[in-house]
Amino acid sequence: MNEHDYQDTGIDVAGVDAALTTTRSVRLRLDLERHVDNDLIMECIDVAEQAPSGGNQGSRRWIVVRDPAVKEKIAELYMATGGNFMIGARDRLAGTGHHQEKVMESAAYLAEHLAEVPAIVIPTVIGVHDGSGRPGLFDSVIQSVWSLCVALRARGLGTAWTTAVLGKRDELAELLGIPEGVTQIAMIPVAYTKGTDFKRAPRLPAREVTFIDHYAHTWASGPSDPPNLADGPGAVVEVDIKAKVDEVWDVVTDLDLSAGYSDESLGATWAEGVDGPSLGARFTGRNTHPAIGEWEVECFVNRYVAGVEFGWVTSDADNPGAQWCFEMTSIAGATRLRYSLRLGPGPSGISAAISNMPDREPAILLRRIEEHAASMQRVVDGVKAQLHREPDPDRVNPLFGKDR
Ligand SMILES: Cc1cc2nc3c(=O)[nH]c(=O)nc-3n(C[C@H](O)[C@H](O)[C@H](O)COP(=O)(O)O)c2cc1C
Repeated sequence: MNEHDYQDTGIDVAGVDAALTTTRSVRLRLDLERHVDNDLIMECIDVAEQAPSGGNQGSRRWIVVRDPAVKEKIAELYMATGGNFMIGARDRLAGTGHHQEKVMESAAYLAEHLAEVPAIVIPTVIGVHDGSGRPGLFDSVIQSVWSLCVALRARGLGTAWTTAVLGKRDELAELLGIPEGVTQIAMIPVAYTKGTDFKRAPRLPAREVTFIDHYAHTWASGPSDPPNLADGPGAVVEVDIKAKVDEVWDVVTDLDLSAGYSDESLGATWAEGVDGPSLGARFTGRNTHPAIGEWEVECFVNRYVAGVEFGWVTSDADNPGAQWCFEMTSIAGATRLRYSLRLGPGPSGISAAISNMPDREPAILLRRIEEHAASMQRVVDGVKAQLHREPDPDRVNPLFGKDR
């Protein structure tokens, strides 16, 4: 994609993207001293009201809390539903380097200073969700609230999307006079920011979370029409395991893991003199397939960050036949395990099959990806079966909700 594919709209694309990618959850850098004018908030709500609504019915209603006494009461509710937890977590995690340390420092700061924030916006929507999944309620308000956050950001103000206080929605409704049948969506503190420079957050690239035509099927580029091996077809499977990252890491770095679950893998052995995983380490994998028989393939560890990623490429480190990787991230008391594959760009069994039947390339690729994805799913399900503990129903994290 390059700029020449854009249709000229007169809209400053770079400016829009900058606003969309740097609208962060601002807490520590909220300027608690500087007054925020109501007209400025109204201007941004006018922008936000342009968001789509189911049936084109605008049912959003906004409350802007300015009264210090009311803000004080909201801060008390927030403290009870999440703030105390956040302060405790901040104190526990301080100096540990834990992945939630910074978020908790920031969240606890907001909890301690909520009453001092110049304005608190509570977006609501007329209606009560029936849980049906039909459009019309949350689906007609969340995008609008996000527009508000972005519009404020473009004007030098910061926000943080928070929901912890909704644990006291009845008390909040009474405090603000919100009638029955009107649903509270979030609580958005609003203030000028101290400094205006905010960075993009680390997120997975689009090609790793976007599937074309079929869930879990990825493409490193394109795909062309018709799709081909040079487009880098691949698959990704994921599972959330209620276990510690270290436990998952130990299981996925065991070379014999796949043999227990995949139809194709017969196991693997570290090269002579190698006694475990490290960057550049070599191993030999043994595989079987009804159409091919048994074969061995040399593999090279190309991604290795303990507790984060373990990846390897096959056949040729510089021009691999395939690229495999396990990645682990902590999410709300669990570990998300991603297992991904990219075919090519180098020669492999699949490129040999394609050269025998070049006109069948798209079908061959699709079939192979489906086979791999099914095997990979069995592998991650197997890891889960080994490690998963039952969720604790009494454990509720106000930032993330119930334990799972
Ligand atoms: C549904 C939802 C609920 C959230 N609830 C809270 C909250 O109650 N308190 C809080 O401080 N942050 C809350 N957050 C903010 C997240 O913690 C925040 O998005 C995260 O720290 C990442 O920062 P970023 O938004 O700058 O990328 C919430 C975010 C979402 C999407």
